[in-house]
Amino acid sequence: MPAVSATAPGKVILFGEHAVVYERPAIAVPVTQVKARTIITANPRGKSGVLHIEAPDIGLEADLQNLPHEDPIAAAIHSILKALIVKRVPTCNLRITSTIPVAAGMGSGAAVTVSIIRALSAYLGHPIDDEKVSAMAYEVDKLHHGTPSGIDNTVITYRVPVFFIRNQPIQTLDVPQPFTILIGDSGITSPTATTVSDVHRAWQTNRDYFETMFDAAGQIALAARDAIENGKPEALGPLMDNNHELLQDMGVSSSELDLLVNAARSAGALGAKLSGGGRGGNMIAIVTPESAETVARALHDVGAVGTIISVVGK
Ligand code: PMV
Repeated sequence: MPAVSATAPGKVILFGEHAVVYERPAIAVPVTQVKARTIITANPRGKSGVLHIEAPDIGLEADLQNLPHEDPIAAAIHSILKALIVKRVPTCNLRITSTIPVAAGMGSGAAVTVSIIRALSAYLGHPIDDEKVSAMAYEVDKLHHGTPSGIDNTVITYRVPVFFIRNQPIQTLDVPQPFTILIGDSGITSPTATTVSDVHRAWQTNRDYFETMFDAAGQIALAARDAIENGKPEALGPLMDNNHELLQDMGVSSSELDLLVNAARSAGALGAKLSGGGRGGNMIAIVTPESAETVARALHDVGAVGTIISVVGK
């Protein structure tokens, strides 16, 4: 049987992280410069019914039967075998690689899951549709996150800009006027589950204040959708600045992220904010094609360990 391979992109949240967990709208876009890839090859000389997994980026090499069911990679594989009613585990090698920074707000966990689901279902001769891929990836994401909103699995599965509201059907975004974003990596790993549970605790003790902030973030996402769909991406700059201020008040920024955000603005970005769970990971800025390189250099100067320039809507 020939090798089967599938990829899934990274993502960034442009507006509305954290508030989206509380059913306010958010906007996310795929980032195709980074991706997770799963390659499956038959293993005719392997022990029958043994699926061997290699994920060199995280130092994992194991047979499926030796991984706990709640391991996210094992969970993704089991969910496909179950959905396709496969009784006998296929004798094959499954190799996972990824260029998406881990625990950095770029959806690496969801992308790995989506690439496994797509590759294994194709290998078994039953590729499944996006709706099912996304629903399965959501279930697996719960093992990474606890209470994910579903935005990661949605944007990574559908690979298009999305306006997302938890528990509602996907809404894709029209982008008549492409725009450039710059993603800056603080190099600090910060598990999303931690910031999500910290925000939850703060919300429990100060409900009114947090509800007001979530409402404000939701209004920003609505205004951003209008700006994007009406071809006015320059209006996104101030909206990003306002969203960052709310995230600071929610307690999920950090001195390193603030430093990067301020450096981006000083170097000519139209606006900037942290992106994703926060306290580390990535920040994003709206830039012009002309200013992108200058702003990227400014981020490196204050400690960014990596930058990606990405055009949304191309
Ligand atoms: O980009 P990530 O994977 O760190 O996503 C975080 C987004 C949150 O809104 C904080 C959580 C969620 O599930 O939506």
